[in-house]
Amino acid sequence: MQKIVIKGGIPLNGTINASGAKNAVLPIIAASIVGSGHSLIKNVPHLDDVTTMNELLIQMGVQLNIVDTTNVEICADYIDNPRAPYETVKTMRASILALGPLLTKYGKAEVSLPGGCAIGARPVDIHLKGLEAMGAKIKVENGYIIAQAKRLKGCQFYMDKVTVTGTENLLIAATLADGETILENCATEPEVVDVTKYLINMGAKIEGIGTSILKIQGVDKLTGCEHNVIPDRIEVGTFLVAAAATGGKITINKANPEDLESVLIKLREAGAEISTTEDSISLNMHGKRPKPVNINTAPHPAFPTDMQAQLCTLNAIASGYSIVTENLFENRFMHINELVRMGAEITVAGNQAIIQGIKQLNGAPTTATDLRASASLVIAGLVAKGETEIFDIHYIDRGYEVIEEKLNQLGAKIQRVTIEPGH
Ligand code: UD1
Repeated sequence: MQKIVIKGGIPLNGTINASGAKNAVLPIIAASIVGSGHSLIKNVPHLDDVTTMNELLIQMGVQLNIVDTTNVEICADYIDNPRAPYETVKTMRASILALGPLLTKYGKAEVSLPGGCAIGARPVDIHLKGLEAMGAKIKVENGYIIAQAKRLKGCQFYMDKVTVTGTENLLIAATLADGETILENCATEPEVVDVTKYLINMGAKIEGIGTSILKIQGVDKLTGCEHNVIPDRIEVGTFLVAAAATGGKITINKANPEDLESVLIKLREAGAEISTTEDSISLNMHGKRPKPVNINTAPHPAFPTDMQAQLCTLNAIASGYSIVTENLFENRFMHINELVRMGAEITVAGNQAIIQGIKQLNGAPTTATDLRASASLVIAGLVAKGETEIFDIHYIDRGYEVIEEKLNQLGAKIQRVTIEPGH
């Protein structure tokens, strides 16, 4: 077991590169199932979730090779075990992304039903209803979704809620369906756009890219192709918030400012000076304490729920009072208890965190409870007086590539420490 130890109080300063986007690469690896021949996926980040998705495909029979450090070659011409077992799905909900691709290419799929998870119930009913509307026969037995279809049929389907992986699953499934599919109320997140581009590169016929209505003309066969994964906007946003909270000055290269507009607006409101080029973002806080900013999470292009926890930390040390409203997931405020243990003045009422900014957080032992909550604790540790320990850091490794190396590069005092058994 490992923990992260941070000595706080140092303003971040320097330059780093963004990694490839976790939430784009996971559906892209899953989507490679629908191609015939080899695909080469570039700019793949080293994350535990990516390793899990790779292993899931390998277990199915997919040939998958890591060509050099950040490129993965995939050939899914032969799959003899179209199954995502419970052991995998329970560690990574995104395994549900195997369902649409397996069903449309191989006519059958078994995927363990994701259970409740740390940030709320997170059902997959829309994924299943959409596939049923395309003619799939689906039953849930012994905790598994068992789906079959000779060939999926094009249909018109309206998603009751905007769902990111739901849109991706149905979009991928529709590429090999018979006839035209119209998906309405689609998610428009940059990661959905990246998957759509990958599918189009493979030969898929898709109109409406980046909009809430996607029109897919099913084809008989897709090929493999080369694809460069987009930068991780949530990773970039997390480092920018860390720099703002510490009063620092950083530049992030290989980033895409366009994908992060709602976050940059809030950081400017908090007092940060921000400049951008086509592929870099620079932030300078000039050593100032942040101003409080109200946050309302909603689907893209509004403020992303995956940046909510980080903004709670920024507000915790801001010069006033703010309200953070979480509209996507119930129970996504578990970081608040830990921040309060570090001295933050925050109360949670329903889906709102009411935050009275204080001058200084104090270092404390803390426990990560989910991926983005752990990011908020890292930021808290960077600004706090004294030493902060973060336990259960496996959550961080699911979604942040070498986070301590990047933060050390920016001058932070952060290290990963192995905990001896019994301690
Ligand atoms: C994806 C992201 C996650 C992000 C979330 C919201 C990946 C791998 N993960 O998760 O980081 O926090 O989008 O931006 O891309 N819902 C239903 N029924 C469904 C599906 C969803 O009711 O069948 C609800 C969910 O409970 C939630 C809302 O819709 O309230 C949005 O969830 P969704 O967009 O599906 O999240 P994920 O795709 O799981």
